[in-house]
Amino acid sequence: MSFVDTLMEAARRVESRAETLLPRPGGPEGRVSAAMRHAVLGGGKRMRGFLVLSSAAIYEVAPLRAERAAVALECLHAYSLVHDDLPCMDDDSLRRGQPTVHVKWDEATAVLAGDALHSLAFEILAEPETHPDATVRAALCLDLARAAGQHGMVGGQAIDIAAETAAEPLVLSEVSRLQALKTGALIRASARAGALLGGASVEDIDALDGYAEALGRAFQIRDDILDVSGDPAAAGKRLRKDEAAGKATFVSLLGLDEAARQADLLVAQATARLDRFGAVANPLREAARFAVARQS
Ligand code: IPE
Ligand code: IPE
Ligand code: MG
Ligand code: MG
Ligand code: MG
Repeated sequence: MSFVDTLMEAARRVESRAETLLPRPGGPEGRVSAAMRHAVLGGGKRMRGFLVLSSAAIYEVAPLRAERAAVALECLHAYSLVHDDLPCMDDDSLRRGQPTVHVKWDEATAVLAGDALHSLAFEILAEPETHPDATVRAALCLDLARAAGQHGMVGGQAIDIAAETAAEPLVLSEVSRLQALKTGALIRASARAGALLGGASVEDIDALDGYAEALGRAFQIRDDILDVSGDPAAAGKRLRKDEAAGKATFVSLLGLDEAARQADLLVAQATARLDRFGAVANPLREAARFAVARQS
């Protein structure tokens, strides 16, 4: 089976579990429910869900528990995308080949759907079906809260937005930190979630964290490369916008070739952190290579 088939199989598992966890549309609040479903179920590679399932598989975590955590990470990610696309942020009208939530519905619905997806992620993690041990559930919630907030994804988004109007463009170390926060934090939380569910040792969690940190950096460099040289039809979103927005990225600072070389180095770093796991971590190794080869 090729890696893309493996990823699609994982995506199917995550999506069918998400079907059962997302609110049904209908009723007076049905507009927000429909927008939440659109944001989560309307495509996407499911990389974060895949990382949860693949790290959980190392510890033979029960499928239901792993899938619930995978859905939580994808809900958090979907919320970040809905808000990222808003007119006050990146002002994008296409996501995953479909109209963005504020275009299909309206801005208030997009803000509320994002808010509700954020809450739903924690609700799912905190429910006993995710893990019978409340200590494990609390650890999952704490980890995701840290990854999502001011010292994680939101912090990275704040730096990204501020950089658009700053007098001086960011230097490489600043871009690197921004990317580790806006993209890397949730990718790390995804790989860690499976390990937390599986009762992994501190050493294992540390190794998975190191893997995912390097993977997250490579993943965002690939996003920057695709913004410059990708095919918008394949990507399913507007491209060629980073330069127009005056954003410093690995590509604007290093050029396409050197940015790609940095991404490859990060993939090697990521996979080196998996040495302790043997063949059971092969899907994670393939995910790292896919992160820098992907077209979408
Ligand atoms: C897009 O993430 C935003 C970034 C953090 C680069 P993905 O490229 O994982 O988007 P989907 O989930 O596959 O649509
Ligand atoms: C978004 O980064 C990262 C998030 C936290 C949502 P981008 O703004 O570069 O992502 P795209 O290019 O819109 O997917
Ligand atoms: Mg953005
Ligand atoms: Mg964006
Ligand atoms: Mg981008």
